[in-house]
Amino acid sequence: MTLLTPTPESIQRAAETLRGGALVAFPTETVYGLGADATNGRAVARIYEAKGRPSFNPLIVHVSDISEAESFAEISDRAYALAQSFWPGPLTLILPLKKDSGISDLCTAGLPTIAVRVPAHKVAQDLLKSAGVPIAAPSANASGRLSPTEAAHVLESLGEKVDLVLAGGRAEKGLESTICDVSGERAVILRHGVITKDDLEAVLDEEVIFAAEESADPQAPKAPGMLLKHYAPTKPLRLNAVDVEEGEALLGFGSLKFMGVKSGGAAATTIPREHIRNLSESGDLYEAASNLFAALHALDSQDVKGIAVMNIPDQGVGIAINDRLKRAAHS
Ligand code: TXA
Ligand code: MG
Repeated sequence: MTLLTPTPESIQRAAETLRGGALVAFPTETVYGLGADATNGRAVARIYEAKGRPSFNPLIVHVSDISEAESFAEISDRAYALAQSFWPGPLTLILPLKKDSGISDLCTAGLPTIAVRVPAHKVAQDLLKSAGVPIAAPSANASGRLSPTEAAHVLESLGEKVDLVLAGGRAEKGLESTICDVSGERAVILRHGVITKDDLEAVLDEEVIFAAEESADPQAPKAPGMLLKHYAPTKPLRLNAVDVEEGEALLGFGSLKFMGVKSGGAAATTIPREHIRNLSESGDLYEAASNLFAALHALDSQDVKGIAVMNIPDQGVGIAINDRLKRAAHS
């Protein structure tokens, strides 16, 4: 495995590595992706192998712009409006796949639709342009584990299973992209992210609905990524905590002033410093989203019995944060 700082030369080398059928991890504005040439089935198969991911779970295909997406996916007026407003950026659209698209079936897991995203991160953009092929890329972590927002997380989780890592600093948004299915009659959010329902509705002149989770209706659209146990740290999470139990770490939001250790009577400041992470002291939900996975990674690696998580307001981007926390807590 080779770890490189992004420069024009290293991006060129990463592009050649991709075109040669190998795996390249690269930064995006959401999380690090584990990329393979989406038109090369053998290369895409290596993603599933490296992640240990169940092969029914389809992948997001990354392209450099709308016109590249159009070469293999149908873009309706509604999809176009969203793409125009949010690409490049943290929005994935589920679109009907064109016939003879050239995209490997492994990306779509045989579905008639495809997940497409144009990332905004400069390194991702340069890599896409240099490679000249669409890049299939799930988050660069072992299946079911926390998503990586730093190159170090990728090394920790995948190590030698990835051929080359472009280390481009911290992923700024910190949460995987919002997934909106625009392949059917209604626009349906399959995964929450920093682009919210209100953001989508402000562009579309229609109500956007949420996909039913673990739905009673088997026809309801679902992203396999909605599987409840998905973003699991190894330590148990206790949500909406109003205090900290002896031996627990604290994942805070806003002021920690009143977060004492239960029955010990001690204040939060007596919890070892390395056992505390605050997602956002000022209570900013975007800042909290951006810090979430790195904070979970950090606390999960401490010698603690569990992680107490303070309440996060369930509105705007808070919905996506709580969605990830609920999944992380479900074991
Ligand atoms: O922010 C992101 O989206 C990151 C970065 C690397 O771009 N990628 C990412 O990919 O989170 P991944 O593979 O971890 O998540 C892909 C999600 C899964 O939940 C999958 O079920 C869903 O997209 N998906 C892919 N194709 C689909 C399709 N045709 N229909 C419904 N859901 C689909
Ligand atoms: Mg993932």
